[in-house]
Amino acid sequence: MEKTNGRLIIALDVPTLEDVTHIVDTVGDLVDCYKVGMEAFYGMGHTVLAQLASRNKKVFVDLKLHDIPTTVSKTVKALCQFSPAFITLHAAGGVKMLKAAMEEADTWAARYQRPRPKLLAITVLTSLGERDWVEIGYQSPIRESVLRMAVMCKEAGMDGVVAAPQEASAIRALCGSEFLIVTPGIRLQPERNGDQTRTATPAQALKAGAHYLVVGRPILSVADPREEVTSILQDMNEYMGKPKAQ
Ligand code: C5P
Repeated sequence: MEKTNGRLIIALDVPTLEDVTHIVDTVGDLVDCYKVGMEAFYGMGHTVLAQLASRNKKVFVDLKLHDIPTTVSKTVKALCQFSPAFITLHAAGGVKMLKAAMEEADTWAARYQRPRPKLLAITVLTSLGERDWVEIGYQSPIRESVLRMAVMCKEAGMDGVVAAPQEASAIRALCGSEFLIVTPGIRLQPERNGDQTRTATPAQALKAGAHYLVVGRPILSVADPREEVTSILQDMNEYMGKPKAQ
């Protein structure tokens, strides 16, 4: 069976616990990490985290925190009690916010002798194109903005960033191989882009330097999620040169 060393993360953008259970149980041992975003977390609360923990799945808490440093750091502390593998926050919150969040996570990990969740900064949402970016009021092109944010995040001590596949190789070159890059906007077939404008195939994203790929709708919207996951893993494994069967 195809596996990818935990590099594929499924975005659980679903409204009910039944949906969560259906996806996780159907995909089974092919994927060990799930992203819980705003829809699932605000709709189901921490029961969704408990559900994943009970199935021995790692959790990527994607609430894209963006507020004053105190509010964000206290929120990180509150989330740490669920021992997530990853927590996201917006790079646009600035260096003080990012550093305060990391300090709080470090303090929590030292106090409870637990692994510290990796903190990942959101650069520019992959649904935004150049026109959207200018409309918001930003003056530099998306790519330049993403790279500036990535360097700032590295200097602020973040573990990595979430960025579009198109920016991954430049981030890798600027920030080094240890700096994590997580890419959403992954599509096996470009015609299924939905509202994502900067997309790539799984193999292209890995080739560009992504450590982890986040995929939501292509897996959630099909009748057989396990089959879709298998196709994505095949594409990833072709790039990684792994044996086809394990
Ligand atoms: O459904 P799809 O595969 O497009 O899901 C992408 C996921 O990645 C969504 O859960 C979305 O919140 C998230 N995301 C993104 N762009 C970012 C950061 C996160 O699309 N820059």
